Amino acid sequence: MDYLLANTPLDSLATECLIVAIHNNKQLSASASTLDSLTDGLITKLIERGDIKGEVADTLLINYLPKTNIQRVLLVGLGDADQLNAKDFRKAIDAAAKTLNSTSVSNAVCCLTESSVTNQDRLWNARQIVEAFSASLYQFDACKSKPADKITLTQLSLCQIDTSDDVQTGITQGTAIAQGVKLAKHVSDLPGNFCTPTYLAEQAVDMAKQHKSLSATILEEADMQKLGMGSLLSVSRGSRQPAKLITLEYNGADKEAKPIVFVGKGLTFDAGGISLKPGAGMDEMKYDMCGSAAVLGTLQAAAELNLPLNIVGIIPSSENMPDGDANKPGDIVTSMAGLTIEILNTDAEGRLILCDALTYAKKFTPDVVIDLATLTGACMVALGQINTGLMSNDDNLSAALNSASDTALDKVWRLPLDDEYQEQLKSNFADIANIGGRFGGAITAGCFLSRFTEDYQWAHLDIAGTAWKSGDAKGATGRPVPLLVQYLLNRANAA
Ligand code: BES
Ligand code: MN
Ligand code: ZN
Repeated sequence: MDYLLANTPLDSLATECLIVAIHNNKQLSASASTLDSLTDGLITKLIERGDIKGEVADTLLINYLPKTNIQRVLLVGLGDADQLNAKDFRKAIDAAAKTLNSTSVSNAVCCLTESSVTNQDRLWNARQIVEAFSASLYQFDACKSKPADKITLTQLSLCQIDTSDDVQTGITQGTAIAQGVKLAKHVSDLPGNFCTPTYLAEQAVDMAKQHKSLSATILEEADMQKLGMGSLLSVSRGSRQPAKLITLEYNGADKEAKPIVFVGKGLTFDAGGISLKPGAGMDEMKYDMCGSAAVLGTLQAAAELNLPLNIVGIIPSSENMPDGDANKPGDIVTSMAGLTIEILNTDAEGRLILCDALTYAKKFTPDVVIDLATLTGACMVALGQINTGLMSNDDNLSAALNSASDTALDKVWRLPLDDEYQEQLKSNFADIANIGGRFGGAITAGCFLSRFTEDYQWAHLDIAGTAWKSGDAKGATGRPVPLLVQYLLNRANAA
């Protein structure tokens, strides 16, 4: 799909479809009004007739227009013109993309860049349009014997209304984010027999081949053994697939600039280990590597955008399986940090692989460390599938992620990490237990990680509820790539 800039006036424009906004109360957007004059009041007539109200996400496709080179018009409702918020704008462009994809149109011109969205500029509008249309094109057909029917749309041009509007930058950023999301979705949707720790390592190596600014390093189990990663390796012992510790470094700033470090849980299949999960829905545990997928997507976007930052992605990757050599409840392992861990439930394996990766992260003298993990079912119970759980030992980092999340429409909600919760992780036999009991499971998981992150500013994103959808729409979401790229863009702007 190509995204271009359009600045041809509507009276001389030729396109298969023009996308314009209308509002409620029969109000037309500027381009709808121009089009109305060019067509002897056609738009007004349709509104008068009641064919479209103009509420948020209403759409109406007009299949034929006489006397113009505009072959079709897609009217999109944006509700009240003075009170259009970011979320409603996104909802409307999602609807527009869906309607357009049900046609045979191959190129279209979108005038929704012109709308005034509360607290946003036209760069943001353009970016959202690119992200929404790209998302609507995603189909996972890598494992079907015949490819899915292709959506015909291949070119979308975005109207530049004012020369001062940076629509082109919006397109560039939107494309990089959308490609990062697409990559994250693809590796996440791949099943566990394809997407193994070895596969993830190969993806990182491939990315480094494609981008000069990226370099990949893969540590094997023997290397991890030398580093004393007894916790990570204990999880991998239960599986025939060898664990990998993947590091992908993006160098876009001075060598001395401290990097932003992302650590992504790359559990390519979580059967629970000896504390085996129930069978129903277990297939979805192929998604237990969505954190690592988001690291890959985010680094790809950073490289595409040539961000003036240094960034490191660390991916501890393993399966969690019930082998004869697997961890047993009650086993005690020693982490790279030296803390001993009593494994009371082998299904709480994410923290066991992350803790060693978080210790390893110190080697990069990080500016901040942000981990992303499908860590707890408890986070889904607490926040549902709307907000990602955010926990942090630093208020500034937490605020920065919150603000990026507002801009990116990739929601987070902060959970507390008070010392009192640490009590729940006490073990009679080791320094720390790997589970904290029935209550506050997302928080006690965060507390567990916090024991390994005391030396730097750190945030933890529990994406268990947000990284994929279940049911009929089962599939990866690519979250939190939009949030993380926005965080990076904000950091780049501040630098
Ligand atoms: N990967 C799961 C968390 C998960 C479960 C994410 C369901 C999304 C949907 C994690 O490894 C896990 O199994 N966590 C346990 C922890 C418990 C044993 C303390 C959980 O949440 O049940
Ligand atoms: Mn588990
Ligand atoms: Zn897991």
